[in-house]
Amino acid sequence: MPKDKIMKLLQFTDIHLTTPGQTIGGRDPNANFDKALEHAMALHSDAEALFITGDLSDWGDAPDYRRLRARIETLPMPVHLLIGNHDDRSTMLDVFPELNGEGGFVQSVVPLPIGHAITLDTWGPETHAGHFCDARAHWLGAQLDELPGPVWLFMHHNPVPIRVAPMDKIMLLDADRFRATIAPHRDKIRHFFHGHCHLPLSGSLFGIPFSAPRGTNHAGWPDFAATRLLSAANLTESYSVVFASEHATVVHMVEFGYTGDIKGEGSPEYSDWDRLTMVR
Ligand SMILES: [Fe+2]
Ligand SMILES: [Fe+2]
Repeated sequence: MPKDKIMKLLQFTDIHLTTPGQTIGGRDPNANFDKALEHAMALHSDAEALFITGDLSDWGDAPDYRRLRARIETLPMPVHLLIGNHDDRSTMLDVFPELNGEGGFVQSVVPLPIGHAITLDTWGPETHAGHFCDARAHWLGAQLDELPGPVWLFMHHNPVPIRVAPMDKIMLLDADRFRATIAPHRDKIRHFFHGHCHLPLSGSLFGIPFSAPRGTNHAGWPDFAATRLLSAANLTESYSVVFASEHATVVHMVEFGYTGDIKGEGSPEYSDWDRLTMVR
């Protein structure tokens, strides 16, 4: 069997940049974004692209977008920005006018070495919930009709309820419309990547796998008993590294904020497996 060509992609999510010096959940999102970039660029500067799946700014402030623009311009790979509920579309587009897509939405088709990525706009005004109107669905349907596949979808809001009530109140509310749009193309869509929940998640929709990393700053906790308030926990800051081929996809959530030891743990060679000498 011929060897599959592999491409590497990076996903950062929920970077929540804010006024320098301010913290969110006791953590500095600007410092953590820099730390994530330094970590990812040291190990994965060969990635084809970095996708940042929304909540770029905590309050949709122009200075956050300007700092983001300056920071990503120094990177050795294309960076694709998505809009999240904490963003402000018009302020974001003032700073990134090139992201103004058809109908004024922050959506695009990105050619990749294997197939195409489609970035989706799930933003609505003055709400944390996600939206996907007829115009956006029509645009996505047209792209999916046109593209040969494989297609990798990127979006901020989760279209599948995670069974944590306060999070599900602010999921993609137009999930039915989104599902109806992608269902006819399930064989073409290899994977979709989202953020928003600040939780490491994986699952599938119509057999299409999806995943989300925890995010580069503050972390959530899956409190299945919660009814009103979102839960947070002091878990490690993370981003995703994706290895994708025509036939297989693997997604690592890399906890770049981990500060503990990383130890050797023996050899994968069966001949080296010796109870007496193996160090653990
Ligand atoms: Fe967020
Ligand atoms: Fe969000």
